[in-house]
Amino acid sequence: MSDEGLERAGAVMRVAEITHAGGPEVLRWAERPVPRPAAGEVLLRVRAFGVNRPDLLQRKGVYPPPPGASDIPGLEVCGDVLEGDCSGTSLRVGQRVVALVNGGGYADYCVVPAGQCIAAPRGLSDAEAAAIPETFFTVWHNLFQRGGLKSGEHVLVHGGASGIGSTAVQLARALGARVWVTAGTEAKCKACVELGAERAINYRSEDFAQVVREATDGRGVDVILDMVAGDYVAREVGCLADDGRLVIVAVQGGTAAAFDASLLMRRRLSITGSTLRPRSSAFKAALARSLEQQVWPLIESGRVRPRMYAVLPAAEIVRAHQLLEAGDHVGKIALTWN
Ligand SMILES: NC(=O)c1ccc[n+]([C@@H]2O[C@H](COP(=O)([O-])OP(=O)(O)OC[C@H]3O[C@@H](n4cnc5c(N)ncnc54)[C@H](OP(=O)(O)O)[C@@H]3O)[C@@H](O)[C@H]2O)c1
Repeated sequence: MSDEGLERAGAVMRVAEITHAGGPEVLRWAERPVPRPAAGEVLLRVRAFGVNRPDLLQRKGVYPPPPGASDIPGLEVCGDVLEGDCSGTSLRVGQRVVALVNGGGYADYCVVPAGQCIAAPRGLSDAEAAAIPETFFTVWHNLFQRGGLKSGEHVLVHGGASGIGSTAVQLARALGARVWVTAGTEAKCKACVELGAERAINYRSEDFAQVVREATDGRGVDVILDMVAGDYVAREVGCLADDGRLVIVAVQGGTAAAFDASLLMRRRLSITGSTLRPRSSAFKAALARSLEQQVWPLIESGRVRPRMYAVLPAAEIVRAHQLLEAGDHVGKIALTWN
């Protein structure tokens, strides 16, 4: 351990903990011992951390951390590598990185498997960098690896103004897809078009499936990124093109879905989905390398940039949760320690 590390042994850090299941007010600042990195892990001094809807679900008690993960919320950070096991990676002590963490991001310090860190993209603030991992890892895997979205294809992204949606719109557009979105207000629809969507459908006033079918002369879209499920599934299956792929990343509209299964045969459709958090460190590390190679150049060239809704001081974590819960945001909310 470094001299600085020795000084920190026994040191405490600030964390935002969930006192019990409930609203934003159940988050409370507390002190905990600075965690020690295990084999294969590094200790980060956190500069900024992002807030995501899964954090709200964890706070409400309906999305518990997987076994072995910290009970402190927070799935993404930007920070400096202080010490730990960088073997087998290109990380070095002192490096500014972004990290997809398994929990514990709402803190001064955080441990993370080294493979889940990526050098922070050049040109981004700490808050912007912290806002990358959760949505970029999720979208890259689901839209491109599972959904197989290709240049020239049509994709429909539900919740286009969300953290996930705003990332999906930009990445899909940058990689040559034609992007359509749904959003719940005209203002959000306008923001999605500014982000790169060709067509934004207000799902409260229009039937997205009908709009898609009419606008594509009945052909449909090649891929749908769905965070609603429930009764959306039947409509989605009805507006996918031949060989279309439906990728489900959340079930905000319910888990049960009834749909015409014969369409899967007649139009050769696929339905898939995944959740990122319980996946192995090896899986997340492989995803990190893929992002580093294929997506980081898009970020560093300015073609893709996390869309920030609010950057707040860490002390305002309750307000950050209130803002995300209110649902007026477009893009991401992140908090900084400085
Ligand atoms: N599977 C995974 O690995 C994974 C990882 C991260 C997040 N997620 C999930 O992905 C979702 C988005 O996460 P986030 O952090 O980006 O949250 P967020 O910014 O709070 O976004 C939630 C979005 O859901 C949209 N929505 C709700 N009902 C809708 C409907 N009926 N039709 C269309 N859109 C609807 C909202 O759109 P409006 O505000 O326009 O109504 C909002 O933009 C969450 O459900 C989260 O749990 C999954």
